[in-house]
Amino acid sequence: MKKVGIIGVGEYLPKKILTNADLEKMVDTSDEWITTRTGIKERRIASSQEATSDLATNAAKEALKDARLKPQDLDLIIIATITPDMQFPSTACLVQANLGAKNAVCFDISAACAGFVYAIIVAQQFIARGTYKNALVVGTEVLSSITDWEDRSTCVLFGDGAGAAVLSEVKSGGILSTYFGSDGSMANLLMMPAGGSRNPTTHKTIDKRLHYIKMEGNEIFKSAVKIMVDTAQIALKQAGLKCSDVDLVIPHQANVRIIMAMAKRLGLPSDRVFLNIEKYGNMSSASTATALCEAVKVGRIKKGDIILLDAFGAGLVWGACLIKW
Ligand SMILES: CC(C)(COP(=O)(O)OP(=O)(O)OC[C@H]1O[C@@H](n2cnc3c(N)ncnc32)[C@H](O)[C@@H]1OP(=O)(O)O)[C@@H](O)C(=O)NCCC(=O)NCCS
Repeated sequence: MKKVGIIGVGEYLPKKILTNADLEKMVDTSDEWITTRTGIKERRIASSQEATSDLATNAAKEALKDARLKPQDLDLIIIATITPDMQFPSTACLVQANLGAKNAVCFDISAACAGFVYAIIVAQQFIARGTYKNALVVGTEVLSSITDWEDRSTCVLFGDGAGAAVLSEVKSGGILSTYFGSDGSMANLLMMPAGGSRNPTTHKTIDKRLHYIKMEGNEIFKSAVKIMVDTAQIALKQAGLKCSDVDLVIPHQANVRIIMAMAKRLGLPSDRVFLNIEKYGNMSSASTATALCEAVKVGRIKKGDIILLDAFGAGLVWGACLIKW
């Protein structure tokens, strides 16, 4: 088995900023409520010209440049998204065409907020076995397209963005361990009920606002902390490491209270937890992806550091990836 590492990262955030003050004018909410309950101050919103593949393409270009690779060097493109440009073809194929990555095999992964971690784990298998040399994975979402802007319990939480990573064989370090899991018995807690084969789009489904995110936030909150803690501990155990060995945790950015409760239970000081939720809200698969990219850019990750990616999301699904940078 070959060692697999991340050799380049990139991100793209749409220009438009929607602040909590803006939301106060749209629904019955307040900056105080959103800030204290979630940690979010503002989020980005894609323009009407920008689809999920456009965000992904921009993030991918930055990651390829960082990795010093050309699009033709890619053997595999995996896009993690729950907001594809359309039901088919895959967003990965659209990104392939945008990049001119004509040698790549392309497909999407639907694993909601854990999608970026899932995509890394899948890409790692191909590179470790020597099937492929270079893989691009992107977490990319235009959640604003499925957000009910009349539902204050969800619309304050989500945002748009994309983060990308290029994986390749590395001489030292790289991915030390991975762990992922799923529990479909809790699928009802977070979903978009219509627009698929269960409830195809009709006037009725639109009138009932079923093409928007529906979430039982409280119920998810109860499971989230335990899931993130257990996931981290399993990945650490597999690598023979302890929490104290971790230099930086890159958690999924759903709620700052979930993240801090997780850190407390793991015995991690807050300065070893990377946050970007304040600026972007919950961007599903793009949250861990952009957080990883930003942690690298601002120098919070140095060569030799032990990094833990830890995510959970609709499904429910969860996943962790321990990396020596
Ligand atoms: C959604 C979430 C922020 C709500 O926070 P909470 O502290 O659980 O709040 P509750 O849902 O209990 O609501 C408390 C009150 O605030 C109200 N409220 C909900 N949204 C509000 C908003 N945007 N502004 C003001 N008040 C709001 C509720 O109506 C409720 O009022 P009531 O007590 O009069 O009924 C929180 O449950 C959460 O983050 N859950 C996890 C969600 C998640 O991780 N999703 C993504 C998975 S990847």
